[in-house]
Amino acid sequence: MFSSIKAKIIIFYLIIISLSLFALGLFLYLSLEKIIYDSIDSSLLSRAKALATLISEDGREFKFSDELMWEYSSQKSGYFFQIRKLDGTTVEKSASLKNLELPFQKGEEQISFKTIYLNKKPVRVVNFPISNLVIQCAENIDGRVELLEDYRRILSLSILALMVISTFGGFLIAKKALTPVKKISESIGRISESNLSERVDEKNIPSELKGLASSFNQTFDSLERAFNRQKQFVSDASHELRTPLSVILSHSEITLRRERSTEEYKNALIAIKDAAKIMLNMIERLLMLARLSSDRAELKFEEINLYSILKDVVKLLNPLAEQKDIKISIHGYEQLTTFGDRASLLELFTNVVDNAIKYNIQQGKVDIYIKENQDYALIEVKDTGVGMPEEDLDKVFDRFYRIDKARSGGIKGAGLGLSICKEIVRLHGGKMEIKSRIGEGTTVSIYLERGKNVVQG
Ligand SMILES: Nc1ncnc2c1ncn2[C@@H]1O[C@H](COP(=O)(O)OP(=O)(O)OP(=O)(O)O)[C@@H](O)[C@H]1O
Ligand SMILES: [Mg+2]
Repeated sequence: MFSSIKAKIIIFYLIIISLSLFALGLFLYLSLEKIIYDSIDSSLLSRAKALATLISEDGREFKFSDELMWEYSSQKSGYFFQIRKLDGTTVEKSASLKNLELPFQKGEEQISFKTIYLNKKPVRVVNFPISNLVIQCAENIDGRVELLEDYRRILSLSILALMVISTFGGFLIAKKALTPVKKISESIGRISESNLSERVDEKNIPSELKGLASSFNQTFDSLERAFNRQKQFVSDASHELRTPLSVILSHSEITLRRERSTEEYKNALIAIKDAAKIMLNMIERLLMLARLSSDRAELKFEEINLYSILKDVVKLLNPLAEQKDIKISIHGYEQLTTFGDRASLLELFTNVVDNAIKYNIQQGKVDIYIKENQDYALIEVKDTGVGMPEEDLDKVFDRFYRIDKARSGGIKGAGLGLSICKEIVRLHGGKMEIKSRIGEGTTVSIYLERGKNVVQG
């Protein structure tokens, strides 16, 4: 129960309210008590002083009138007096005292007040010393003590009632304050795999919770995007794998329909082998993409010479370039290094140079420039190929995207190369740009972190 925010708010609220009400009640009660006792004491003191004026200077004669004695005659009147010597012996006392005595201690030579009980009734007494006597004046304060008790009872009941009302109020406040949180959690509860577009309504939420609601919404936005990308990817991958699979299936079915010559079997097997190769290549690249999309944990970063890695790429792809009589050249700083993972960078440059050859014209050119600027090492791969339309420049980084399948009809590819490049560049903290014009060629610029081996000038 105590882990609930509502219970905590109510308890906290109750403690504060109880303490304040208790303090207020105590203050009110003590104030009234003081007012009442002050008024009793001052009236008793006046009475004692009045008696003192009627006593002769030597303290032997009392000029008390009948009227005065009548005032102190019975217990009902509620007034008493007793006059003592300093040693405590009684000199005179009122008839109202009968055989009772007002308590006295020797040596009480200062004005003092106390409450005592006479016949079980509360009585207030003042001791008023004059030269060689002490005048004790008393008054029955039964009525006022009762009044104070009633007042205490009413105060306690009111405080109790206020506490009950406050607890209920605290409960309502806590409930109202937590309603938006409940709403948010209900909205989140409604979000499921089949209902990823559900969002927390940010409009009717108090400003303190807007941040929470908007972070939830942002998280779910990116989750939904990731989920949709994943769905799209699975559907694209299945679609792309279906083509080579149907090639394999149709070749085997047609060939098996009747007896064939060795030549025909051989041709069918070659077609099947080519389709299987395409599938294998595609699956390998998909696995690579999946690995790269996760994190950089698998990458081994080291200082890498850009010229030497690009030379390896050119060596690897030269046979392909020669088929189209394409000349590849590398220009620029031979010493410039970057900080990266060798295998991934090899894959990156191979894909870019492969495209520059694949989408180039016969006897075209591929020029690779190694440059540096203030912040980056820059590699530009420039070709004299068919180029790309402006509107496709963003999309070529999407998985399986190939521009105008009819145009690249003869050229094999899965549309995965540039999406792999994008992931590799992302993992290296770099960026990649493509500039292209139809019929004029394409320039791919790759910006990577500069290694320690910086070329000056
Ligand atoms: N240098 C280029 N010149 C012209 N078009 C290009 C160039 N590079 C890429 N493209 C276009 O962008 C598309 C996507 O390229 P990407 O490298 O991702 O896939 P691919 O080359 O078709 O297949 P893969 O690289 O997976 O074998 C290509 O199909 C092509 O249409
Ligand atoms: Mg490619």
